[in-house]
Amino acid sequence: MSTFSKAITLILLTLFLSACNKGKKIPTLNFPSTDLSTENMIPKPLEAIATNEGFSLDQYTAISVSEKSDDLLDLIWFLSEKIKAKTNLDIVLADSETPQKGTVIYIEKTDALKQKGAEAYLLSITRDSLILSSSQASGIFRGMQTIRQIIPDNSNDTITTYKTWPIPTGEINDKPQFEYRGSMLDVARHFFSVEDVKKYIDLLAYYKYNILHLHLSDDQGWRIEIKSWPLLTKIGGSTEVGGEQGGFYTQEEYIDLVNYAARRHIMIVPEIDMPGHTNAASVSYPILNGNGIPPKLYEGTEVGKSTLDTRKDEVYTFIDDVVREISAITPGPYFHIGGDESHVTKKEDYIYFVERVQEIVRKHGKRMIGWDEIATANIDSNSISQFWASKENAHLAIEKNMKIILSPAKKAYLDMKYDTESKYGLSWSGYIPVDTAYIWTPEAYEKIPLKNIIGIEAPLWSETISNMDELEYLAFPRAIGYAELGWSIKENRNWEDYKKRLANQAPFLKRMKVKYYPSSLVKWNE
Ligand code: ACM
Repeated sequence: MSTFSKAITLILLTLFLSACNKGKKIPTLNFPSTDLSTENMIPKPLEAIATNEGFSLDQYTAISVSEKSDDLLDLIWFLSEKIKAKTNLDIVLADSETPQKGTVIYIEKTDALKQKGAEAYLLSITRDSLILSSSQASGIFRGMQTIRQIIPDNSNDTITTYKTWPIPTGEINDKPQFEYRGSMLDVARHFFSVEDVKKYIDLLAYYKYNILHLHLSDDQGWRIEIKSWPLLTKIGGSTEVGGEQGGFYTQEEYIDLVNYAARRHIMIVPEIDMPGHTNAASVSYPILNGNGIPPKLYEGTEVGKSTLDTRKDEVYTFIDDVVREISAITPGPYFHIGGDESHVTKKEDYIYFVERVQEIVRKHGKRMIGWDEIATANIDSNSISQFWASKENAHLAIEKNMKIILSPAKKAYLDMKYDTESKYGLSWSGYIPVDTAYIWTPEAYEKIPLKNIIGIEAPLWSETISNMDELEYLAFPRAIGYAELGWSIKENRNWEDYKKRLANQAPFLKRMKVKYYPSSLVKWNE
């Protein structure tokens, strides 16, 4: 922000405060020196400059906004709720009628930060005020996660007669390195309820993720209501791995998830995996089947046996309906078509299929994403390839000038075991301990040029997990490290420093009742 805009903000704030401060003012407290730059923020911000004093968050703190628009009021409601959950303080909305006695949190939307991007934010903290500025609600939301992280876990009860949570003063100037920072949840192998997914969204939001990719269909289950093809959920949604009950989201429930995520500035990317991984669809409607074997419900975990009949027009009518219905309830720009491991689809049929589906996705106003195999088809630079296994496919995508999402199974698969002792997970791409998950460089992975990388995503496949405790065991703490790889620049990442900040996530994880894997590589602050 320019010096001029900073000055304007300060003048407005001072005028506001003097209007409010008709009552008796609480004296500013003197805290022992604290250092903002060494706070336990994850992801590490771009720049943090400490001024080594303390802002008192306490019963006299009030919150105020630059404009009383719905989005800003909703954001401050969100922040107040989180402050209440952590400290039990009721932070009130300041207005000029109520005398303001103590410190102020001021949330400001300003065009001055526009050129830094929608998620960029600035946090200026002095002894009396904490000012969070961004050009967009999404930047304010990211900055609010930083505020949540720098509020101490415990109050200081000795410096004055009331409890105070001293926040270190200084300035944080922050923005993400990558525009796409995601995790994928496989709700097809095992179904996860709306409540489970919401908890996962809450955890991702705290670490500044902006994408949740939902793997909504596979051989073992179809998980989203399609009104024009009702048997998909009635039959295809009835099973999951291991023969449990299965389940699916009605469109209303899916919309509820989309809205819940949107409020946390997270976008849902829906995936319907095809032409392989389609047994659940083919059992529901055998006309779709292309592998020549009468389909049966499947509860095992082998892959690569199913395919749609890529040369039948009805199959494309089906896909058109599915993409149309899901796109209509998905505000984000992406539609993921899967495209992986279609081992029983002939190569020429696979290529024909992907090209035709790209047109369908485009027709419904979405941008196609697919696993890295899609780059073997003749598709255009608008589609996005998700690198999971094949360097060769990644380089085909580069030749086509496509963007790439980095999800290399050797580094970023949340469903790989930590080590030989892990209770859940697979190990086909190796073990991924907490340090291996963090110590790699997406910016230079497999010689993929930085300009092609749109971001990173950590997929969580669910063959071996069927409830929230098991999900959390695999996702945490590794998902926290992927958040930093997606957000923070390489110069700001360092395992030794990260490890200490990670250890201090324990109180938050405990508060959120997250059953994380307490890796012995980290000295958890429990
Ligand atoms: C994948 O793991 N089959 C994308």
